[in-house]
Amino acid sequence: MKKEHWGSKLGFILAVAGSAIGLGNIWRFPYIVGYHGGAAFICVYIMCLAFVGFPAFLAEISMGRTSQADPATAFAVLGRGRGWRYLGILTIVTGFLVSAFYSAVAGWVVGYWVEAMRGTFSNFSSLLHAQSFHQELMDNPYWGLFFHALFILMSSGVLYFGVKGGIEKSNKVFVPLLFFILIFLVFQGLFLPNRAQALSFLFSPRFDLLTPAACLMALGHSFFTLSVGQGTLVTYGSYLERHEPIMRTSYPIVLMDTLVSFLASVAVFTIVFSVGIAPDAGPSLLFQTLPFVFSQMVGGYGIGVLFFGLVFLAAITSQISAMEPFIAYLCQEWGCSRQRAVVVAGVAIFCVGVPCALSTSLLKNYAIFGSATFLDFLIDVCSELLIPLGGLAAVVLVGWRWGSKQAVAELTEKNQRALGIYLHLCFRYISPLLILLVFLSAIW
Ligand code: PHE
Repeated sequence: MKKEHWGSKLGFILAVAGSAIGLGNIWRFPYIVGYHGGAAFICVYIMCLAFVGFPAFLAEISMGRTSQADPATAFAVLGRGRGWRYLGILTIVTGFLVSAFYSAVAGWVVGYWVEAMRGTFSNFSSLLHAQSFHQELMDNPYWGLFFHALFILMSSGVLYFGVKGGIEKSNKVFVPLLFFILIFLVFQGLFLPNRAQALSFLFSPRFDLLTPAACLMALGHSFFTLSVGQGTLVTYGSYLERHEPIMRTSYPIVLMDTLVSFLASVAVFTIVFSVGIAPDAGPSLLFQTLPFVFSQMVGGYGIGVLFFGLVFLAAITSQISAMEPFIAYLCQEWGCSRQRAVVVAGVAIFCVGVPCALSTSLLKNYAIFGSATFLDFLIDVCSELLIPLGGLAAVVLVGWRWGSKQAVAELTEKNQRALGIYLHLCFRYISPLLILLVFLSAIW
């Protein structure tokens, strides 16, 4: 079978940016910044990006481009051994599990987008009302299942048309559209009442809130947000032609991802503060507080529809990228046709996502290994164990096995000595040690 490739550099940039920009940026980043020290947290986060997230990101993309293969073969060829192959397979499993829980949560987003369009939010008379509406939906197993299935169907629909015709084309539309909506919401937010309070909640430095746990959170988030550790970047990198540059295309991607996190934080908190209520953390921010705020503000109907549309766009481009490593594996290792692989992956991911989608209704009383529900369990295992492990495997492979010199030569040009030294130090020492720290703190 002929190997698929991106049609253009821009296509690659937008596809990886689409993967990186996701629920993590729009939903998680705003409240972790707000609650863990504002500008103080942002400084730590940027350091984590520079010394852990970005090097691991480059390591994975160059592994893909050099091997021109799915993660299992990429790890096996560059690591020269069966053990490495199993680690490659583990990253594919991680992507698979992430896509299962991601879809259950993104399904709620689609459901809320539909409610926004139906004008449901305008009927909320109090925050309590918004909360009880949310509870009603969460208690309904059919609602969660239906939207989980719909979301998988939409993502699989895109993947069915291949790398160029499906992934690249959809990202070329979705990512610019996402920026367009986000910038509109930010401008709108900057004219709302209490904007100064919102900005100070977000950005004033509060070093007392910057605990060791907050620093670990910044570290973990720096690779979740760049889609490191789950086969995605190796796979997307393998669709680059051998001669395509990596560094030059990676800067704009990381910049876009970080910019979206900041802009989303401004949009979310100017909206929340505009009606003078306390910002909430976690799921209730997206599904209770914001819908209630939309019911109270002038133009809330349109803003609500745009906001949930934005979250949907962010989620679907990430979901596609989380499903792709497994599909690439089925095609390249098992000789499946792309169409068949998409169907198999779609059905399997749907099935694993079912207990996640039911974790707020039928299965809400089933705790697993100390996590409150199956959904929480999967999120914890992936974000605290499997993703750091996958990222660690990639930087150790690049730094110590494939050879840091080799990788640096792949990534830099002749006159970029300083960049080369920075990458070498990160691949060999800084990134593995810091990732190990996250990993150990999770199993402690
Ligand atoms: N980077 C995405 C986010 O920030 C998450 C993601 C996970 C993307 C897995 C791809 C694969 O939400």
